[in-house]
Amino acid sequence: ANSVNILAIETSCDETAAAIIQDGKRIISEVVATQIDSHKRFGGVVPEIASRHHVEQMTQVLEDTLQKASLSMKDIDAVAVTEGPGLVGALLVGVATAKALAFSHQLPLIGVHHIAGHIYANQLIESFQFPLLCLVVSGGHTELVLMREHGDYEVIGETRDDACGEAYDKVARVLGIPYPGGPHVDRLAKQGEDTLHFPRIYLEEESYDFSFSGLKSAVINTVHNAKQKGESLKKEDIACSFQESVVEVLVEKTYRASKDYQVKHVVVAGGVAANSRLREALGARFKDEDVNLSVPPLSLCTDNAAMIGAAAFNDYKKGAFSGLELNANPGLDL
Ligand code: KG4
Ligand code: ZN
Repeated sequence: ANSVNILAIETSCDETAAAIIQDGKRIISEVVATQIDSHKRFGGVVPEIASRHHVEQMTQVLEDTLQKASLSMKDIDAVAVTEGPGLVGALLVGVATAKALAFSHQLPLIGVHHIAGHIYANQLIESFQFPLLCLVVSGGHTELVLMREHGDYEVIGETRDDACGEAYDKVARVLGIPYPGGPHVDRLAKQGEDTLHFPRIYLEEESYDFSFSGLKSAVINTVHNAKQKGESLKKEDIACSFQESVVEVLVEKTYRASKDYQVKHVVVAGGVAANSRLREALGARFKDEDVNLSVPPLSLCTDNAAMIGAAAFNDYKKGAFSGLELNANPGLDL
């Protein structure tokens, strides 16, 4: 059979990204134009600036993606795009671009859920075995998702307040670290120790839900109290103590869910999946278990378009295409 080339576009937040994915598995070409520097001085992503950058970068990113693969639109079989969730103005740029391409080249259009994309980043590394459990930890989401087959998602637990990456970014801010703080906190924590023993927030015994706002407040209060008393705390220890609390809960809930649902495969997805301590702790927890653990390479953890192309391949096989009325949906459900 002929191979299928999907051109995928992702613009849900602050990366303008495109990729060509062959048969849902192979990255033929990939370009990510990040806007982090433009948002840094505001301490977070400014939606209006994000959309404007996407408009400015989109055409070049697409051209570079095709050129890197020495392909033209004639070699493309479908166009996929993140339809939500995300920033509406940012999503719209990708959706409008994908629709224009699909219409002008008479190609099928496939709208993809951003989190489905994060999950399918793992499929670029290793074929899924079902039932599969995915720990989704990003700047906007923290969820445990159970998959019994391709394209089938059951959210068995989610955050009741802040997303995990959001908590990292807020703690980073208190420590005077620039946006996005997650990677810096990760680095600092390696030099610190868990001296502060922040609470581990497990909620009800049976629950797979998460909560990070209490921990975030505990960190903020500790820092302020120390300042008031003129005591000095090591940033490294604060980072490490915070991270140990986060990672312990993430790993334990993932482990318990993997047992309760007797899954064959555990995967991790989203920006915080790049966290070195989380990767290490998951590896240790599942080492002697009869389940397959996959952790995507760092480049596939944060936002990218390759993951969108990987997720779209299932819809392509099923012929589940979107119409040209496809619209950006900032609150799209998985
Ligand atoms: O998935 P992502 O790129 O964007 C969203 O869809 O939200 O995730 C971005 C989040 C940010 O909060 C960032 O601080 C966090 O992922 N992050 C990390 C690390 N790398 C990125 N958090 C902890 N440790 C890391 N190494
Ligand atoms: Zn994301």
